[in-house]
Amino acid sequence: MGQRRLFLRLLVALLCCVASRSHSLQLTNCNVSELSTLNNVESLTSLSLLHCNLPQVRANLFQGYAQLLRLELSHCSLTDLAKSALNGLQRLRRLSLAHNNISEIKSWSEETLAGLSALDASHNRIVQLAALSFAAYPQLQELNLGHNLITKLEPDAFHGLQHLKQLQLQENRLQQIDGKCFHGLPRLHSLALQHNQINHVAVAAFESNTHLRSLRLEFNQVSNMQFLQDPGLSRLVLLNLSRNALSNLAPLTFSQNVELQYLDLSFNQLRQLDNDSFIGLDLLEHINVSHNNVDEIHGDCLEPLSTLQQLDLGYNQLSSLPDQLFQTTTQLRSIDLTHNKLEKLPLHLLSQLIHLNRLNLAENRLDNAAWLQHLAAALNRLALRIDLSSNHIRSLNLSSLALFEHVYLADNRWDCMWLTRNMLRTPPATLSFDRSWPMLSAWSEDLMNVRGIDCFDGEQNRSIVLLDVGIARQQQSKSCNCEVNGDDISPLTPPLTWPKIRTDRFDSRSVIIWMLVAIALAFSGLRWGQRFMDRKEVTKKLQKANDEQANKVDEEAQRLRNGRER
Ligand SMILES: *[C@@H]1O[C@H](CO)[C@@H](O)[C@H](O)[C@H]1NC(C)=O
Ligand SMILES: *[C@@H]1O[C@H](CO)[C@@H](O)[C@H](O)[C@H]1NC(C)=O
Ligand SMILES: *[C@@H]1O[C@H](CO)[C@@H](O)[C@H](O)[C@H]1NC(C)=O
Ligand SMILES: *[C@@H]1O[C@H](CO)[C@@H](O)[C@H](O)[C@H]1NC(C)=O
Ligand SMILES: *[C@@H]1O[C@H](CO)[C@@H](O)[C@H](O)[C@H]1NC(C)=O
Ligand SMILES: *[C@@H]1O[C@H](CO)[C@@H](O)[C@H](O)[C@H]1NC(C)=O
Ligand SMILES: *[C@@H]1O[C@H](CO)[C@@H](O)[C@H](O)[C@H]1NC(C)=O
Repeated sequence: MGQRRLFLRLLVALLCCVASRSHSLQLTNCNVSELSTLNNVESLTSLSLLHCNLPQVRANLFQGYAQLLRLELSHCSLTDLAKSALNGLQRLRRLSLAHNNISEIKSWSEETLAGLSALDASHNRIVQLAALSFAAYPQLQELNLGHNLITKLEPDAFHGLQHLKQLQLQENRLQQIDGKCFHGLPRLHSLALQHNQINHVAVAAFESNTHLRSLRLEFNQVSNMQFLQDPGLSRLVLLNLSRNALSNLAPLTFSQNVELQYLDLSFNQLRQLDNDSFIGLDLLEHINVSHNNVDEIHGDCLEPLSTLQQLDLGYNQLSSLPDQLFQTTTQLRSIDLTHNKLEKLPLHLLSQLIHLNRLNLAENRLDNAAWLQHLAAALNRLALRIDLSSNHIRSLNLSSLALFEHVYLADNRWDCMWLTRNMLRTPPATLSFDRSWPMLSAWSEDLMNVRGIDCFDGEQNRSIVLLDVGIARQQQSKSCNCEVNGDDISPLTPPLTWPKIRTDRFDSRSVIIWMLVAIALAFSGLRWGQRFMDRKEVTKKLQKANDEQANKVDEEAQRLRNGRER
């Protein structure tokens, strides 16, 4: 039975194979003479030649391939494609010449390739694009010229590509975008110019590209954003200017880009966000200004962004925030202010935000979190994650923090007295105070990570390590080659090499106290676990008994029914 099914499956696979063979063909490591011996090429719809040795393609090489829809010649060291190399491929839709040595785009067919909709010439050695380079391919919709050596786009280089939607020019050597480079591309939807050396974009560069939705300019040297004032860019949805040379945002920079939803300005040198910097961005949802030098934000700066959901201002120089910053951005879900110099937050800063679910304030200088008492009443606190790690907080109202999904509190300046008192009451599991302490142990070569909390006594530094003895023992029995049995180790003397902990004025008494606390916790956890397991066992037994009983009753009923029928 099984054998027959296997045979059938094999047969089907074979048939499929044969069927597809007659339509598509892939050859690797081939050469021209092999190519010219192929027969039945007239029925082929797809031909892939990968890693073949084809430095030149002579005229009419593909003359017989009347049905071909897809042709790929990649990694073939292709350098010279004759003027009529693609003659006869009237139905061709997709052509890939990626990863070769082509230096020029030409008309590779005497008749226009009227069906060609996608051309991939990426990873070649194209240096320049002359005017009307693509005149022979008027139906192109996708054009990939990425990873070439293009330094200049002649005016009207893409002229005639009425249907082009996607143009990729990333990873080239472009320096300027002139006024007429992208002329005659009325349907252009997305334009990729990232990873070039663009330092100037002409004011009217995108005048005729009125359908442009995505413009990627990251990793360039753009310092002036005047080109954004072009009415041609009024339908832009995504603008990426990450890693450029922007140093200021002129007033009304984005006033024409009214449909923008994603704006990335990260990794620039912006210093200031003014009241009129973002006017016009009525539909913006995500803005990233991280990794700049912003040290001043004016109160009404975010006021126009009433649909903003995600704000990233991490890695800047902010030392304070204006009271009314988030007054109108009531849709905000995520705020990132990591790695600034914030010393305190206005008490009512977040009181309008009812959708907030991520708040990252790590690596600042906050010494309190009083503003947490003033969040919006309608906010779902159980869905909010707050990161307050690496700040200067000495103590907190822990009962007010228990309501959140999670609060990260590691690496603050905890007051030892306060910490001790609160740790004895076992803080809720949604708070994490501890961080990892890499240390060497006597039984293993590997660094062991012990979780610990540090705290400070007055101005003197002091670290306290809270040992999770359970984990330490587990790790030991796992990596131990010695004959020592886990039970033989006294829990009071964990074999750790203490000097590896970076501490000063080490207080061994408090360490022992903490260890005792930890051990007590571990044991009570174990006991509780055992009790839980026992209870579960009993429940399971009861269940089983019940089931058996039920089965018996069923059988009884069945028997009775059968009897009656008879
Ligand atoms: C093409 O490849 C075949 C088989 O690998 C080989 O016999 C033949 O000599 C090659 N022809 C050329 C022109 O390199
Ligand atoms: C590509 O062309 C360059 C010079 O034009 C040559 O040095 C290089 O070897 C060629 N690469 C391949 C893979 O043919
Ligand atoms: C902008 O480009 C950078 C680098 O390629 C990328 O990491 C980031 O996600 C992009 N931003 C947007 C909004 O797409
Ligand atoms: C902002 O950009 C930085 C750097 O590219 C990135 O790490 C971060 O995730 C981005 N933030 C958002 C909200 O996309
Ligand atoms: C920005 O707006 C705030 C709030 O309306 C105002 O107090 C401040 O003076 C404005 N700043 C500038 C530079 O106009
Ligand atoms: C701590 O927070 C709780 C809950 O928000 C509040 O009822 C209590 O008054 C606060 N205690 C102090 C000392 O602020
Ligand atoms: C004491 O703590 C301060 C602030 O955390 C730190 O800058 C300093 O290096 C610490 N001193 C020692 C000896 O660790």
